Amino acid sequence: MFDRKLLSKVAQSNVTDDMTVTETYNLAINEPYDKETNPNGVLNLGVAVNKLQEDIMLEKLNSINQVTRKDLEYGDHTGSIELRTQIANTVNRHFNVHENVNPNDIVVVNGCTAGIDVIASVICDPGDAVLVSTPYYYSLEEDVNLRVKAVLVSVPIPIDETQEKSQVKYYEEKFNELESKGIKTKMIILCNPHNPLGKNYSREALESILEFANKHKIFVLMDEIYALSVYRGKTVEDIENIRQTSKNTFSDTENNDDVLYPFISVLSFDNLDQIIDPSLVIVIHGLSKDFCLNGFRLGWIISPWNKRFTQAAQNIGVFSYQAIFIQSMITKLLSDTQFIDSFINLVNKNLLENYTKTTQFLTENNIKYVPAQAGLFICVNLGNLLIKWKNKQLEKQFGNKYEKVLSIKQVTFEDEFNMWVDIVHNGRIYITSGFHIRAHEPGWARLIFAIPWEQLKLGLERLIEFVEK
Ligand SMILES: Cc1ncc(COP(=O)(O)O)c(C=O)c1O
Repeated sequence: MFDRKLLSKVAQSNVTDDMTVTETYNLAINEPYDKETNPNGVLNLGVAVNKLQEDIMLEKLNSINQVTRKDLEYGDHTGSIELRTQIANTVNRHFNVHENVNPNDIVVVNGCTAGIDVIASVICDPGDAVLVSTPYYYSLEEDVNLRVKAVLVSVPIPIDETQEKSQVKYYEEKFNELESKGIKTKMIILCNPHNPLGKNYSREALESILEFANKHKIFVLMDEIYALSVYRGKTVEDIENIRQTSKNTFSDTENNDDVLYPFISVLSFDNLDQIIDPSLVIVIHGLSKDFCLNGFRLGWIISPWNKRFTQAAQNIGVFSYQAIFIQSMITKLLSDTQFIDSFINLVNKNLLENYTKTTQFLTENNIKYVPAQAGLFICVNLGNLLIKWKNKQLEKQFGNKYEKVLSIKQVTFEDEFNMWVDIVHNGRIYITSGFHIRAHEPGWARLIFAIPWEQLKLGLERLIEFVEK
């Protein structure tokens, strides 16, 4: 038997004997549903991929796919100047920037996951705290921890305060608590638009969090990876229109208010230096979500206000640089501004269409959800299904001699975890469960709705049928 202690301490802390989560995830990736070839495969409603425009993107990429001599060489590990120029142009045209982003302020990395690792490496030491509000995009835990050994610390924020200025008090409380234990808070990660809630932050909320960070000299990583996937409430007029009609369209949201704000990139602030020392602010964006190219593994760090940070990120970026061939291809893709603009419009149109169908389905099936406006997902409350599932397990175990579970207060995250494993393995639907996103109570899930409606509907039906039957 191999002695683990021969590994580095970092590696030892990264390996585990319990492979349930990994095996369950692998099932979704390795045994995907296909109507013709694998009808009993797993329907993937869990991994944040936008599959609604695949054909168009494939056709475009195949039309510009040509390997040249230049692609055979090392190239610039921070991203070729041609690519960084096209990224800057794209950001400058679509993020309503206050000042144009300069290509030299961009570091290209192989995906935002790698980008967050690079940023954490530059900013954090082992044991430093990185604050993030819950629920959150769960991979952030590993992104800051696997190599850097910084620790993601959750700041539970009530869902109805997620977009609001009032949330700052929770950050203050957590900061003070950590400080009293001698733990240094080095960074906040703010996903705007929010993953998993699919909401945009208000300007006031962003300003308050930035002011808080400035007060304590904390870096703010603005993860704007869903910036261009805002399908509802893009503008103030749009929001007003939705407000007028929403009563009929989105009915059963119960306590979850449908509060909409337009997306505001931190790059668009005209008064940033009056709110925070801008050298504390870093932005990431990439191809995976807004351009539906997860597999291309290409993201970018934008640091217009801190040259020293950029230099340090460039140095370490040598471990995460993208193939020159992919860089050339994406340079060509982004330089076709007509294609990009119409593609982004199509992404938003398709997302809205699927969001509308999904919320109608949920309403018809009495499943509550948090209204969303951006991203590829919707948070749903499967608490009733979890209660039913739990009672079925008790019945299997004890026949009819058991006390029926009637309320969500009687189920645990362990129950939710077991239901999730059952749903994926036996129900053949992969979802992101509440424990993944650090939901505040058991029973929540995040569903991806950016897959063709036929499959999505089948997945939703399978999910309900599996628990009900
Ligand atoms: C909020 C957020 N940040 C970062 C990432 C990582 O993206 P990438 O595919 O570029 O590594 C994701 C992917 O799901 C995400 O949702």
